[in-house]
Amino acid sequence: MSARINPSILSADFVNLQADLERIASADLVHVDVMDNHFVPNLTFGPQMVGRIQDVSPVPLDVHLMISDVDRWAPGYAELGAYSVTFHAEATSDPVALARRLRSIGARAGIAVKPGTPIEPYLELLPEFDQVLVMTVEPGFGGQAFMPETMPKLQALSAEVARTGLDVWLQVDGGISADTIGIAAAAGADTFVAGSAVYSGSDPASNIALLRAAAEASTHTH
Ligand code: DX5
Ligand code: ZN
Repeated sequence: MSARINPSILSADFVNLQADLERIASADLVHVDVMDNHFVPNLTFGPQMVGRIQDVSPVPLDVHLMISDVDRWAPGYAELGAYSVTFHAEATSDPVALARRLRSIGARAGIAVKPGTPIEPYLELLPEFDQVLVMTVEPGFGGQAFMPETMPKLQALSAEVARTGLDVWLQVDGGISADTIGIAAAAGADTFVAGSAVYSGSDPASNIALLRAAAEASTHTH
């Protein structure tokens, strides 16, 4: 398996974003954290900013919506051309309808669960999604510690993906570093978000390569 590494620009320099996007050209996708100071306590940016990121990014966009009222706002991110749009299960009462709408616009549809949200109710919905994001920290801030107690959710997802043969990416986000990425890879993750681990130090490209190698060394083989 080739591990996908999606750097989170939450750890980039917001006033030099174009330069910081160019520094991660070797990544698979760029992870764009939209926060509304309501679903999570933090605030980042909205569709206008994400549209400009889309214009200049060397890699496609993996948009992570940490916002309420996703039924109203998520389709706009698909319309501006994001490759993937992930909304939180906790933010909608009809995840299937929203996923179908995102796919009809042409985006990959992702569903995210916070650490305290069980995955079982969503296993039977896997055919409706292109990606499941298991949060490995409480959403809202970069630089938090990885929560290994979320790994049984990945194991359940990974078993269901193997059983059904569906092509659903299993993403983890929060506290992913060279020390923790192997734990998530062994549990079945194939798509890894990393903010501080990519943008710390002077060379994001070598951080990306290091993370990719560490994930691939621990990848669970079916
Ligand atoms: C946190 C965001 C993450 C964040 C991860 O709620 O969803 O994408 O940028 O940051 P690190 O990798 O520093 O934990
Ligand atoms: Zn994120």
